[in-house]
Amino acid sequence: MSRDLSAPEQRRLLLDSVRDYLEQLAEEGLEGLPATAPTRAAAPKAAVPPASVPARDGVSSRDAAAGAASPPRPASAPIEMLSRYPGLEKTATLEELRAFIGDCQRCKLAPLRTHLVFGVGNPEADLMFVGEAPGADEDARGEPFVGRAGQLLTDIIERGMGLRRADVYICNVIKCRPPDNRNPEADEVAACEPFLMRQIDLVQPRAIVALGTFAVQALLKVKTPISRLRGNWHEVRGVKLMPTFHPAYLLRSPGEKRWVWQDIQEVMKLLGIETPARGGTR
Ligand code: URA
Repeated sequence: MSRDLSAPEQRRLLLDSVRDYLEQLAEEGLEGLPATAPTRAAAPKAAVPPASVPARDGVSSRDAAAGAASPPRPASAPIEMLSRYPGLEKTATLEELRAFIGDCQRCKLAPLRTHLVFGVGNPEADLMFVGEAPGADEDARGEPFVGRAGQLLTDIIERGMGLRRADVYICNVIKCRPPDNRNPEADEVAACEPFLMRQIDLVQPRAIVALGTFAVQALLKVKTPISRLRGNWHEVRGVKLMPTFHPAYLLRSPGEKRWVWQDIQEVMKLLGIETPARGGTR
C-alpha cells in the first residue's frame, strides 16, 4: 500500500510538474523570439549564391496542398542579413566561413565559451539539421549534438534514416553556449544568424530539419508554436525546411517521438531515402 506523501515531497512533486509544464510550453513556442527580418533565397545548388537574391522564407507548401489551415506568415521587415558583416558574402567554403568567424567576440557569449561550435558533417550534404545552441557537452567538445539529445539525434539519423551522421550537416542557430543553457537572447541571435545563413548558402542542402521551437522560429521568423508548424514544409533561403520537435524535448516526452518519425519520413520521401532494414546504417 502506498504511503501518503509528506508536505515537502508534495511540494517537490508539484514543483517538478510545474517545471515540466513550463518546459513543454517553451517547447511549444509560447516563449519565443521577437520576430525579426526574413532572409534571402539561395541560388541553385551549382553556385554559391550572391547575397542579393530576394527572400522567399517561411512559405509552407504541404499545408496548402492538403487544404489545411493557411501557413503562418513570416515577419515582413526585410534586411540583408549577410551585410551585417562586410565580406561574409564572399566566403566560398565552410572553411573560409569558419576562418571569417575566427575567435568571435561579436556578442556577450564569447567570454563564457570553451569552444565555438561551428558545425560538423558533409559540406555538400543533402540534409542539414539545425538546433538551438550548444549545451555543456557541445561547448566542451566543440561539436554540435554530442550530449544525450545528440545521441538521440544520431539515432534518428543512423537507425531511423539509415544514413551516417557524417553524411548530413549539423549545426545550431547560436554557435556559443548560453550560460546555464538559458534560451539565446535576441542580440545573440542577431549576432550569430548571418553565419547560419551563410552555412545554408554554402552547403545548399536539399532539405533542412529545424529542431525545436527556437530553431524553427529563428529560421522562419515566426512566433507560431512548433506544434502548428511541424509536419509541414516551409522554406528558408530557397531550401525546404521541415520543423520538428527537439531531441531534448523527446527525452522528456518520449510519447512525442511518433510525430518526429512522421516528419522524418516526409524528409526521407523528399530526398528519396528508403526506410532502412531495422536498426541499420547504409
Ligand atoms: N541542443 C542543441 O540545440 N544543440 C546542440 O548542439 C546540443 C543540444
